[in-house]
Amino acid sequence: MAYMKDHLSSVVDPSLMDRSLTLEIIRVTEAAALAASTQVGRGDEDEADRAAVDSMRKTLNSLDINGTVVIGEGERDEAPMLYIGEKVGSGDGPEVDIALDPLEGTSITACGGQNAMAVLAMADKGSFLNAPDVYMKKLAIGAGVPIYPEDLDAPIINVLERAAKAKGGTIQDLMVCILDRPRHKELIAEVRKTGARITLIQDGDVAAAISAADPQSAIDVYVGIGGAPEGVLAAAALQCIGGCLLGKLVFRNDGERARAVKVGITDYDKIYTLNELAKPNNVMFAATGVTDGTMLPGVHRYPHGATTHSIVMRSKTGTIRRIETRHDFTRKPA
Ligand code: FBP
Repeated sequence: MAYMKDHLSSVVDPSLMDRSLTLEIIRVTEAAALAASTQVGRGDEDEADRAAVDSMRKTLNSLDINGTVVIGEGERDEAPMLYIGEKVGSGDGPEVDIALDPLEGTSITACGGQNAMAVLAMADKGSFLNAPDVYMKKLAIGAGVPIYPEDLDAPIINVLERAAKAKGGTIQDLMVCILDRPRHKELIAEVRKTGARITLIQDGDVAAAISAADPQSAIDVYVGIGGAPEGVLAAAALQCIGGCLLGKLVFRNDGERARAVKVGITDYDKIYTLNELAKPNNVMFAATGVTDGTMLPGVHRYPHGATTHSIVMRSKTGTIRRIETRHDFTRKPA
């Protein structure tokens, strides 16, 4: 049997392997979302996260990959499962790096709010920035707007003027998405001064950054400080759908700087471009909604079953699929 698998992986065209893996990874995010959905509104963030992590890990380990988690639940001594450096998959198959968040939006799930998702990105080894678990200042925008690294620290009006011009409208037409946090008080005032509209979100900036790049969404720009791991996940998605994301790590203390040094980062002020956050060549990205959101409907549960909605995409071809799946728990328990 082992011989058969080795033989197969040596004869199968690698591009066909990515194609089938792209579809396989939806099963992984679906499993995490289904598990997390049992905890919606129960007020227990840890239990919601645990359910998603357990389920994602189990399904991930059934894939024929030789995977390493590079963006995960935390460092080995902090996270019992899906920690950074954990080997996942059967070990038979391509060597890949994995960025994941089994439950993006733990507090959203615990309180039954909007936009919680299970997220996973996979790519060739060395494709993702090994971002420490600190904050990241981010700017995400769709394709067609000229963006330069220095825009991240420049007055936001510069980007908004260019975005309005590229879209053939005015700044007043633009919708800017920002996480509703006290740290963004000045940023919110600055954006309001330009005349742009703002949507403040409670949590979930992976979906916000992806929506900014999606020409069909109501969001034109995502800006502000959120998690660095979430920045890498969003970059993986933008490598597939197009658009631009800039990021700069934000450190609150020496302990956080030490986390960066541990993963080889010594330039604390570096502005990362999209290609530095996630290399473009061979990225796959999947997300399944847990609760209803701007990007995806959440899990709809009913007696003996549930329906999930997922998005899955691939950078090599730019293919984006939206998949609605009906799960029958009488035949296959969740
Ligand atoms: P979790 O998945 O850890 O709950 O993250 C939710 C989130 O809103 C992210 O989308 C965002 O990047 C980060 O938290 C912002 O962090 P904070 O809540 O500390 O402002």
